[in-house]
Amino acid sequence: MTERQEDWNDPDRVGRWVAKDARRPAVQTARDLAVATVAVDSSPAFVVELAAGSGTFLATFLRAFPEARGLWSDSSPEMARHARKTLAPFAGRVDYVLSDLRRPGLAGGAAPDVLICARATHGLDAAELTAFYRRAAASLRPGGWLINLDHMAGSEEWGRRYDALTPRFYEGVGEGQTAGKAKDRGGHRLETHLELLAAAGLTDVDTPWRLLSTVLVMARRPA
Ligand SMILES: C[S@@+](CC[C@H](N)C(=O)[O-])C[C@H]1O[C@@H](n2cnc3c(N)ncnc32)[C@H](O)[C@@H]1O
Repeated sequence: MTERQEDWNDPDRVGRWVAKDARRPAVQTARDLAVATVAVDSSPAFVVELAAGSGTFLATFLRAFPEARGLWSDSSPEMARHARKTLAPFAGRVDYVLSDLRRPGLAGGAAPDVLICARATHGLDAAELTAFYRRAAASLRPGGWLINLDHMAGSEEWGRRYDALTPRFYEGVGEGQTAGKAKDRGGHRLETHLELLAAAGLTDVDTPWRLLSTVLVMARRPA
């Protein structure tokens, strides 16, 4: 990952990130929209979140689908500590697995109805991203959803505009305030994600939400 993985084990950094992320209403809108989209014509029984951080996306699903079970997974034990707090209301319905996005066995063996990954694949290189989509698609139950919310690369001009707009519209800080360092979008464009999803055999692909360079991609395995 571009952000070094060990950084996600630094308690101070992780604590600051989790607190800051809770003040980003736009990200919660994307999560709510993904859940509502799935709910239009399905009711998942098993939801997996990879590179799940503090588990907020998974919590949004478990709240909306009270019968569903969840699997939280991330490589960071420090994030696991935060996730256990976020997911405490769903005790008995969630399992926790420390695992690396780049390794096989993504969903711990069982076939998920929904597989989520948010704001993590931009750190994978091209071969890792291809392998991620192939494994994720193959792990899904027929009719299952793959959901990836991530920052995506674009032209230099648009990167500059997005950097200027990120504090106000993504971070939710007041106009004129800065967001700190520029957002790391990695090197994968939206077109690449869409091509890789199709190559992995997923159909029914679309982007129901986008804000600046952060895109919600949803795709379904044929039933
Ligand atoms: C920006 S945070 C996003 C957390 C969560 N997905 C969200 O959107 O709220 C990135 C997360 O990816 C995890 N991560 C980074 N590289 C990983 C890898 N190779 N395998 C598993 N998790 C990884 C980090 O530990 C961190 O929790």
